[in-house]
Amino acid sequence: MAGAADGGGKPRVVLGVSGGIAAYKACELLRRLTESGHDVRVVPTASALNFVGAATWSALSGHPVASEVWSDVHEVPHVRIGQSADLVVVAPATADLLARAAHGLAPDLLTNTLLTARCPVVFAPAMHTEMWEHPATRANVATLRSRGAVVIEPASGRLTGADTGKGRLPDPAEIFEVCRRILARGAAEPDLTGRHVVVSAGGTREPLDPVRYLGNRSSGKQGYALARTAAARGARVTLVTANASLPDPAGVDVVRVETAKQLRTAVIEAAGDADAVVMAAAVADFRPSDYATGKIKKKDGQEPAPIVLVRNPDILAEISAERPRAGQVIVGFAAETDDVLANGRDKLRRKGCDLLVVNEVGERKTFGSEANEAVILASDGAETPVPYGPKEALADTVWDLVTLRLP
Ligand code: CTP
Repeated sequence: MAGAADGGGKPRVVLGVSGGIAAYKACELLRRLTESGHDVRVVPTASALNFVGAATWSALSGHPVASEVWSDVHEVPHVRIGQSADLVVVAPATADLLARAAHGLAPDLLTNTLLTARCPVVFAPAMHTEMWEHPATRANVATLRSRGAVVIEPASGRLTGADTGKGRLPDPAEIFEVCRRILARGAAEPDLTGRHVVVSAGGTREPLDPVRYLGNRSSGKQGYALARTAAARGARVTLVTANASLPDPAGVDVVRVETAKQLRTAVIEAAGDADAVVMAAAVADFRPSDYATGKIKKKDGQEPAPIVLVRNPDILAEISAERPRAGQVIVGFAAETDDVLANGRDKLRRKGCDLLVVNEVGERKTFGSEANEAVILASDGAETPVPYGPKEALADTVWDLVTLRLP
């Protein structure tokens, strides 16, 4: 069955496109997929061709394009395309397409492909908020997820016309990241399907006056990698992010905060029904005791007033002690400069979390870099070293260890 040589050894991706205005954004996804070495067959629905024509898809993919099962019948494309795919991604997926996929209807080539595919399937829905929230669509999405498909949550923002709300197609670059992660993990089942995970990321800022704050150098990249990889593994993800300037990962609910107190409120609220909470944010341990409502001015001949600090709540210790939901897995991070493992073990005990990702702060590691190296300590005594590599690889190892501990 699988393995037609036409992919030339490249991973074979089927890009399904259904009939929504966001179809034009799938051109960007297609370009990213082909430029990164994937062999892409585009299978648009007939209504998608009203938005972007077959010539565009064919030129960008280098393959013929058909939407009906009656083209090239001798090659049995309605069976072959799905069987030989390593990944099927439907972007945009309309409410109608999700309904047909959920019910196994197969009136055209794309829906036939979905029935014959045995590889991971990703849907990136785009529709008006009312359609996304309709009980019929909710039920169809739940059915698809229960069968192992990854359905990316739509983004919020401006929709076609004057409306705004949830329903936008996520950024094609982020859909591409989900596809890349799923392909990198092989045909593994999306093992976080049905789970809700909360990830905190970035670094908090503690204001001194309207223009100044105490902050830290966290870029948020590790937390974003955790959110992105969890979404690619099928989880519903809430990302509580403090002051990071990174694009929203696809399919992730993003809550923006600034201070440690705001981060605490947002994490505790989201943690109520979460299966796992990962505290990757660099939370300020202290904040200025006073906030000046007007800008603090220098005064000639006077030394500046000292800044008095007070403790911030320790969010990780608090949720580890309270466990808002039974069986919840809680993960902390520790950046250390000396006695890395000994300090890490001590911190794991003090914080009371289940896993602690300990990394040594160094020149090319941690802050702002694309790569990381760590040891993940577990409360049961296990130690998992993660070699120097992309932050996404570390993120996947964290989710592997979380998954093992979920009830
Ligand atoms: N953390 C938190 N709330 C805080 C401070 C930290 O939830 N007020 C979390 C971080 O998100 C991280 C972990 O705790 O997951 C480790 O934080 P760190 O500041 O390194 O630990 P501390 O207990 O402050 O230890 P030390 O100052 O001795 O390094």
